[in-house]
Amino acid sequence: MTRRVLTGIKPTGTPHLGNLLGAFRPALRLADEGLDAMYFIADYHALTTVKDRAQLARYTHEVAATWLALGLDPERTLFYRQSDVPEIFELSWVLACFTSKGWLDRAHAYKSAMAAGDTEINMGLYTYPVLMAADILAFDSDLVPVGKDQDQHVEIARDIAQRVNHMVGHDVLRVPAARIEHDSAVVPGTDGRKMSKSYGNTIPLFATAAERKKIIGRIVTDSTPPEAPKDPATSTIFELYRAVATPAEAEALAARYRSGIGWGEAKQALADRLEQELAIPRARYQELIADPARLDGILAAGAEKARAYARGVLERVRVAIGISRPR
Ligand code: TRP
Repeated sequence: MTRRVLTGIKPTGTPHLGNLLGAFRPALRLADEGLDAMYFIADYHALTTVKDRAQLARYTHEVAATWLALGLDPERTLFYRQSDVPEIFELSWVLACFTSKGWLDRAHAYKSAMAAGDTEINMGLYTYPVLMAADILAFDSDLVPVGKDQDQHVEIARDIAQRVNHMVGHDVLRVPAARIEHDSAVVPGTDGRKMSKSYGNTIPLFATAAERKKIIGRIVTDSTPPEAPKDPATSTIFELYRAVATPAEAEALAARYRSGIGWGEAKQALADRLEQELAIPRARYQELIADPARLDGILAAGAEKARAYARGVLERVRVAIGISRPR
């Protein structure tokens, strides 16, 4: 049977290069490899942090347009917005009743948010892993590609599925496995730390060439003269280049580093390579973002198919726990 792969992206910011390399691209590759793919926009997860109505709506459209601009084919991939699938939220309640509070207490994301004090935390943040488990389990997912930071959440989804199966006495839920995208950890931002919206060091995916050039110009370099040999391994510019280029291209740039390259030249090489990579998807993105009705239509069609699938899983669960009568 074809393996089912599912992942969600939270619309909490404008998609950036780190998201491309750590999330969008690995997921799209799996869909191209012929797995049954289900990719969605986790807008109700975003609500745990985004409270501005206009922002939530904009980020949601941006993430949807990004998926499509990068090549997601809604005819082959189940593509939908989480909030359009109420079955997920009903399942979430059922799962909550099989979830140990201690599992949620131990979640790293929740614990680090707790550093700000528990009045700063809403219950959505606390129960976040239960909703994420429902996202995953409602579609019989086998494989969940995520960044390292989400590994524990997938582990909780596994624990919940196993507990439900154990308590009802048969395998009503399919137990998923995470697939960690190691690359996501190594995409540096303009300040050399991991590229992340919260550090303000991102390169937006669909910036214009001029905007992107300006951002790359801000990458901090040292004062070694242009002709001095440089170590590619310690250079943020090189790391970013390598993340998008072919191995042969990266090796060529590394050679230029070793024989001496000016920082301005290195930045230009990065800017050019990114433009080459992103010019076509950017044109598609701009077309899509200018046509919200078309985006909404694509999402609505996806939601209908998603609901039909999730309804079946939910009914299986409702029968297993005694809410529905077996038919
Ligand atoms: N929590 C994930 C993140 O922040 C997003 C997400 C929500 C997700 N539901 C999911 C990822 C289900 C994989 C599967 O990146």
